[in-house]
Amino acid sequence: MYLHGTSQINGQGRLQIGGCDTTELAARFGTPLYVMDEALIRQRCREFVDAFRESGLRFQVAYASKAFCVMAMCRIVEEEGLSLDVVSEGELHTALQAGFPPERIHFHGNNKTPDEIRMALDAGIGCFVVDNFVELHLLNALAGEKGQAAKVLFRITPGVEAHTHDYISTGQEDSKFGFDLGNGSAYRVIEEASRLPYIDVLGVHSHIGSQIFEVEGFKMAVEKVIGFAVKVRAELNVTFRVVNLGGGFGIRYVEGDTPLPIKEYIKAITEDISSYFSRHDYPIPEIWVEPGRSIVGDAGTTLYTIGTFKDIPGVRKYVAVDGGMTDNPRPALYESKYEAMLANRASEPNEETVSIAGKCCESGDMLIWDVELPRAESGDLLAVSCTGAYNYAMASNYNRIRRPAVVFVKDGQADVVVKRESLGDVVGNDVVPDRLRKPEAARTV
Ligand code: LLP
Repeated sequence: MYLHGTSQINGQGRLQIGGCDTTELAARFGTPLYVMDEALIRQRCREFVDAFRESGLRFQVAYASKAFCVMAMCRIVEEEGLSLDVVSEGELHTALQAGFPPERIHFHGNNKTPDEIRMALDAGIGCFVVDNFVELHLLNALAGEKGQAAKVLFRITPGVEAHTHDYISTGQEDSKFGFDLGNGSAYRVIEEASRLPYIDVLGVHSHIGSQIFEVEGFKMAVEKVIGFAVKVRAELNVTFRVVNLGGGFGIRYVEGDTPLPIKEYIKAITEDISSYFSRHDYPIPEIWVEPGRSIVGDAGTTLYTIGTFKDIPGVRKYVAVDGGMTDNPRPALYESKYEAMLANRASEPNEETVSIAGKCCESGDMLIWDVELPRAESGDLLAVSCTGAYNYAMASNYNRIRRPAVVFVKDGQADVVVKRESLGDVVGNDVVPDRLRKPEAARTV
């Protein structure tokens, strides 16, 4: 397993993250456990900010909170000077509860409800990323009720398809998101919006996909967006003050993944932005990006306890852990690949190839096919790396499995930022109507 950030093998031959021995973390907090390397999260935030500072452009780096949205994370994001992108009332509430400055919150989503829009207007958020005509008119009306114009970006689909898994490509024309550049709907929405009294057009937004390893897609998107900006200024007299290029910067999950250093992506984007806009004598807008995975992905490691085995001679050996698709649905959803190691025997040589199964009642609940490990025994601690993005965020209670705790580790200190769900939580929202209640006398306790 590749060791990210502060992960290392300590003198006892155990995996250590943020100065904390993972066997001690497992004993103290139980497993499965999400362990987040706080120093690495902060380092990634700084890599984005430093790359933009170097460009000399005005910018905002908005962390896409969908990747991992909890209050402690919002605190780090604020401390690092980033903005925040939310896509639901739940993410917005999390940010506001954490005291995140509302003016640095951007609200995304292809179907914001009237209640969500009201909540965001009441909070005074910085920007709505409007996705469709229905939302545009709803927002104009609701902002009108408050007597204050809403700041707006329009999500456009530039027709660029990034080289990524089909399920997570969103920049192409056939997408549920945004206004299409090619068929003119992006042009029409700017035209329409510029006539609405409670819509303040800041500019446009484009997100071409996720887990992208090269700069070409971003460069193509920049070119298309700028061509559009120039046309809109000439014909509609609307000048964009902001251009948002979304997220999607890739990370290394497994050997063979070849992401670029963050500064390379930002350099390619900002250089093109500067030269194209200057060429058209267009005042360079503020540039925003929205990284999610590249901020938190490789900072996360999940610890599991190994339980049972099934060895099918000549076929394969299954090694089962105390979690699975409930805490990491990505292998089942996207065929995502992960690396793993025995955290309590981290310096022992690999001896066998096994496949890691989850504990859910579903054959597809496999975390890793064919991973090399020392000969594992019940009670060993398995660490799976790169689980910081879209793992806790997409966790479920399938089979009524409790969602794990999340701890932040840094300089030898471990702090719980999300508690493990209790069995009480599991039934906490259940209601048994009176007519279904078991009579007291008939209860067997
Ligand atoms: N901005 C917008 C508008 C997005 O739709 C997304 C991700 C991001 C930013 C952040 O993208 P990132 O930097 O994290 O790649 N559940 C999938 C990923 C879905 C991404 C959805 N949108 C996965 O587990 O791979």
